Amino acid sequence: MLLLFSCVVFGLVGRVLRVSKIHDGTVIDHICGGYGLEVVKILGITGREGRVLTIGVNVPSRRFGVKDVLKVEGRVLNASEVNRIALVAPHATINIIRDFRVVEKLVVKLPRVIEGLVRCVNPACVSNSGEPVVARFYVECEEPLLLKCHYCGSLLERADVLRQL
Ligand code: CTP
Ligand code: ZN
Repeated sequence: MLLLFSCVVFGLVGRVLRVSKIHDGTVIDHICGGYGLEVVKILGITGREGRVLTIGVNVPSRRFGVKDVLKVEGRVLNASEVNRIALVAPHATINIIRDFRVVEKLVVKLPRVIEGLVRCVNPACVSNSGEPVVARFYVECEEPLLLKCHYCGSLLERADVLRQL
């Protein structure tokens, strides 16, 4: 009896809700542990928009060991924002919440071609020359991230992308 009781108590503690549920907005879940703040940057959230933002960093996850989770109240992300998130969080799940319920669940997916989001690392690249040329990259590998410049063939890794955020 005592053993059963301790198991129940342990179960409840193990499932303790660290970040509360939201009414309306977007939950970005399963971000690799430690990268949630990069996602905040990608979304251009400053904290001065007047919206409630909740961040869980390195919270326990059954699937990934640890994960980051971001809850943005009162904002629904569009497709291009979702794709941008894939640059730093390739396994993220985007949950759209309405009236406390998950009404849509999207798994992020990097597009094959990325335009205008990141700059080429090669200063001599035509996309850095001040000409009206939009930087364009092909996704050579999603994980570990590897992007190849359309113009000069330079390769960018995740660290190169993170430096630009
Ligand atoms: N969530 C929230 N507010 C709500 C509903 C859900 O903040 N009103 C959050 C949950 O805390 C969870 C995420 O949205 O982090 C997804 O919710 P749900 O689909 O109910 O959870 P899981 O089934 O665990 O999701 P998955 O299968 O994607 O792991
Ligand atoms: Zn280039």
